[in-house]
Amino acid sequence: MEQIKWKLNNLPKSKNREEGIKFLNDDEITKVKGFHESFPQYKETPLVNLENLAKSIGVGGVYLKDESYRFGLNAFKVLGGSFAMAKYMADKLGKDISELPYEKLISDEVRKELGDITFFTATDGNHGRGVAWTANKLKQKAVVYMPKGSSITRLNNIKAEGAEATITELNYDDAVRLATENAKKVDGLVVQDTAWEGYEDIPAWIMQGYGTLAKEAISQLKGYGVDRPTHVFVQAGVGSFAGAIQGYVASEFDECPITVVVEADQADCYYKSAEAGDGKPRFVGGDMQTIMAGLACGEPNTIGFEIIKDYSEAFISAPDWVSAKGMRILGNPLRGDEKVISGESGAVTTGTLVSIMQDENLAQLRKSLKLDENSKVLLISTEGDTDPDKYLDIVWNGECPSL
Ligand SMILES: Cc1ncc(COP(=O)(O)O)c(C=O)c1O
Repeated sequence: MEQIKWKLNNLPKSKNREEGIKFLNDDEITKVKGFHESFPQYKETPLVNLENLAKSIGVGGVYLKDESYRFGLNAFKVLGGSFAMAKYMADKLGKDISELPYEKLISDEVRKELGDITFFTATDGNHGRGVAWTANKLKQKAVVYMPKGSSITRLNNIKAEGAEATITELNYDDAVRLATENAKKVDGLVVQDTAWEGYEDIPAWIMQGYGTLAKEAISQLKGYGVDRPTHVFVQAGVGSFAGAIQGYVASEFDECPITVVVEADQADCYYKSAEAGDGKPRFVGGDMQTIMAGLACGEPNTIGFEIIKDYSEAFISAPDWVSAKGMRILGNPLRGDEKVISGESGAVTTGTLVSIMQDENLAQLRKSLKLDENSKVLLISTEGDTDPDKYLDIVWNGECPSL
């Protein structure tokens, strides 16, 4: 069975790296969070203190943000889509986002002024559900393409929001191209959670949208007496999420927390870029068969890539069993710790952290990352059981056993 692979970040840094994260600083994210707070569904998601897990693996603290509670959608992704769609509408109306809280956004008045908009996107499930949910609230149309092999439950959840959704024969990156081409034909709006040259406004707003959860987490940590996490583990598909969290924490603290980027080994474009070492992104193609559907993306987001290259400490390429192990750990906690239902893409950072602390083959990485009894580690479970059958196959029936 495959081992965890890792690479410390020796990529060349941008000359003025602070410029690249300005759009994620606290002033910006305060406005974003204010927008999300205007939603009737808004409630801070829990930050769980896994005190006994921390003790058992030899770190000072493990704090896990549980995004399964986000807006009743079982994943964090709606934060990005909703903010980007609102920003687009605010720009069209010549208004500031602060003038477009939820009630206004979904009002008939705004609907009339803007007319029909069809939102197009490609998704493994979570992003598309967030876009479809927002479009539904706006009484607008959404068209959603999913990669080959996507979960039927995830498809049905998107359809339940009134979107036109299909599972294609393409991988994620090609499904993005399909969404873009088809949007062009009908003058639709692409709301994609990744950036490429010439398409950067909407993905930047999506990344800002994710900032809300980072801001919540940093404030919740203070409630546990932790002024600054020493380590942050973030999972990456295209790297919008990882870049957003990284950008926010890097602008918040003079001493930047050590950030570790974790990918599915079948879609490890950041790890491969780190191995190549020249500062240019590398792509992974093909079907990218992994249980971590949300991380099955082979082409880095151009904005996320720069931030991650400039600020991350290490890149991890994790086989499926690492995520399965994380799901089992979080679903079956040590006595006294709270249970968290974490899905495949949500749990991989937990599996990675525990492996780094316990596996002697990873002792060098542990040392390089300075992970010890003084470490206060922030993890984010980005989804719950978004594919409930698969969740049970793994947690109850032992699919993907640990190494
Ligand atoms: C649950 C979950 N976690 C993490 C990610 C990774 O986000 P990104 O593609 O921005 O790297 C995704 C992306 O779809 C996801 O659905």
